[in-house]
Amino acid sequence: MQIAETITALRTQIKVWRQQNQTIAFVPTMGNLHQGHLSLVAKAQELADKVVVSVFVNPLQFNDATDLAAYPRTLEQDIQQLVSVDCDLLFTPTSEMMYPNGMEAQTTVSVPGMDDKLCGRDRPGHFDGVVTIVNKLFNMVQADIAIFGEKDYQQLLLIKIMVQDLNLPIEIVGSPTYRESSGLAMSSRNQYLTDPQREQAAELYQTLLTVKAQLEQGDQSFDAIQQQAIEHLNNSGFATDYVDIRRADNLEQAKAGEKSLRILLAAKLGQARLIDNIACNLA
Ligand code: PAF
Repeated sequence: MQIAETITALRTQIKVWRQQNQTIAFVPTMGNLHQGHLSLVAKAQELADKVVVSVFVNPLQFNDATDLAAYPRTLEQDIQQLVSVDCDLLFTPTSEMMYPNGMEAQTTVSVPGMDDKLCGRDRPGHFDGVVTIVNKLFNMVQADIAIFGEKDYQQLLLIKIMVQDLNLPIEIVGSPTYRESSGLAMSSRNQYLTDPQREQAAELYQTLLTVKAQLEQGDQSFDAIQQQAIEHLNNSGFATDYVDIRRADNLEQAKAGEKSLRILLAAKLGQARLIDNIACNLA
């Protein structure tokens, strides 16, 4: 596997592949890779000739300096894992390369109407930071396809909208959430959990399944279902930010009769803020 530490080194290799008519798939990450990330790399390998992964802990998407400082950085292990799955190129830029004039001077991108709800409401500025860095990375890598996990469903939708609105020549592919055997969605943030908390965290997925079952049984009292789920999680030791039943296509509040839904939640447990979501397609 090649490692490009600079934008120039990345562009040089991309140019060679382009001259050879190779297709390129891109998996942007913040490192601390786990099976979930590797499943995105596997998907990328199915879809293109060459796979580029980036590892960059993006300061622009953190609205809390303590959270940014604590974010796990494990580049050596990340490299070993990527080598073991035959990734072609790892791009590891620094903050100075990505924001040469500082973050305050950075031109930013935002997706109106989508960035101030759910996780956007709880983490102001977070999604502007995400779509801005993803846009920059897309311009650097110039891949044909980029793969994102459905665990960050709101992020996935925002990126799809950005690509459409800005006419970016790249296809966005969502990949299913990778779960531990308990059902807990894999996340770099799971390592903030103690062993008992990790067991407890499986309740998040169970709660999503319970909400889904209620909807499938024809219950359309969305507010009551959400409230019940929040109370259940709070009584189980979580500090719940939201449990929400939304339209799958645009994350607007779901209305009775709508068929294609997404159930999303965010809750804190100990030091970790965890998110998860599942699809719910009603007949
Ligand atoms: O999902 C992530 O890890 C990040 O938000 C991303 C897409 C790599 C942008 O920094």
